[in-house]
Amino acid sequence: MPSDLSTLAQTTEKRAPAAIAPRALRFSWGADLPRFWFGGDAFRTHYMNALSLLFPQGEQFFIETVRALRHASRDATLDAEIGAFIGQESWHRQAHLAYNAHLEAQGLPVARLEARLRSRIEFVRTRMTPLRGLAATVCLEHFTAILAHHLLSRPQELETMPLPLRRLWLWHALEELEHKSVAFDLYRAAGGGAALRSGQMLIVTFTFTLDVLGNLAALLAADGLLWKRAVWASGAGFLFGPRRGLVWSVLPAYLGFFRPGFHPRDTDEGQLIASARFALSRLSAPH
Ligand SMILES: [Fe+2]
Ligand SMILES: [Fe+2]
Repeated sequence: MPSDLSTLAQTTEKRAPAAIAPRALRFSWGADLPRFWFGGDAFRTHYMNALSLLFPQGEQFFIETVRALRHASRDATLDAEIGAFIGQESWHRQAHLAYNAHLEAQGLPVARLEARLRSRIEFVRTRMTPLRGLAATVCLEHFTAILAHHLLSRPQELETMPLPLRRLWLWHALEELEHKSVAFDLYRAAGGGAALRSGQMLIVTFTFTLDVLGNLAALLAADGLLWKRAVWASGAGFLFGPRRGLVWSVLPAYLGFFRPGFHPRDTDEGQLIASARFALSRLSAPH
C-alpha cells in the first residue's frame, strides 16, 4: 500500500480510546526533604532535577505544538485524547513549577537554567513549521515514554525516594505512558511521515542530551560536586552500568523509533500501566 494510503488507513482505524486520565495532584515540598533524595545519591538526584527543570517549558511547547495542528484530527477519539493529553501536561507543568521553586529555595541556579532554555525554545519556535514543531514533540514524547518505562520497571528504585517525590515521579511516568501515542497520532493525521520525524529525532537527541547534561553539570557545580570522582563513578553506573544502566535499558526502544512503520502502541505497556495505577492509588490514599 502506498505510504500516504496506509497513513490514511491507520489514522482512520477504529479503536478504543486510550484511557488517559488527567489527575490533578498537588504536592507540598517541605524543607525537611533530603537534598539527595534519590537513594541518597547526588548524581541520580540531580539527573532527575535536571529533567524537572526542562518540564514546565518543554510541556508548554508540547501543548502549543499539538494545539497548532489539532484541527488536522478528524477523529473524535483522537480529539478526546488530545484534550486529555493537554490536561495531563498542564498538571505536570504546575507540579514541576512548584518543585523547581523548591529547588531554587535550596540555592540551586534554577532561574539561570530556565532562562537558558527559554531563549533556545524561543529561537526554535520562530523557525519551525507547525509540522516540524509537532515532530519535535513526537520525538520528545518518545523520550519521556521510554524514560517512564525505565522508571516504572524499577519499583525498587522508586522505593528509595521519599514519599512526595516517589508520588511525583510515579504519577508523571504513568501519565506519560498513558498518553504516549497522542502526539504521534496527530502528527500522522496532519500528514507527517517517517523521514521528517526520524531526522528530527537526530536533532532532538542532540539538544535533549545537551540540555540534560548542561543542567546536571550546573546543579552538581552548585553543590560543589562537579569534580568529585565518586559522584561520576556513581553516575557512570547509573547511566552505563552493565545490568541496570539507563542508556542500555532504553536503547532498543530508542532505536525502534527510526523504523519507518514504528508506532508507540507497538509496545504494549498495559501491565506496567496497571501496576503503576495501583501503586499510585496506594500512595494517594490517606495514611
Ligand atoms: Fe508530562
Ligand atoms: Fe508527555
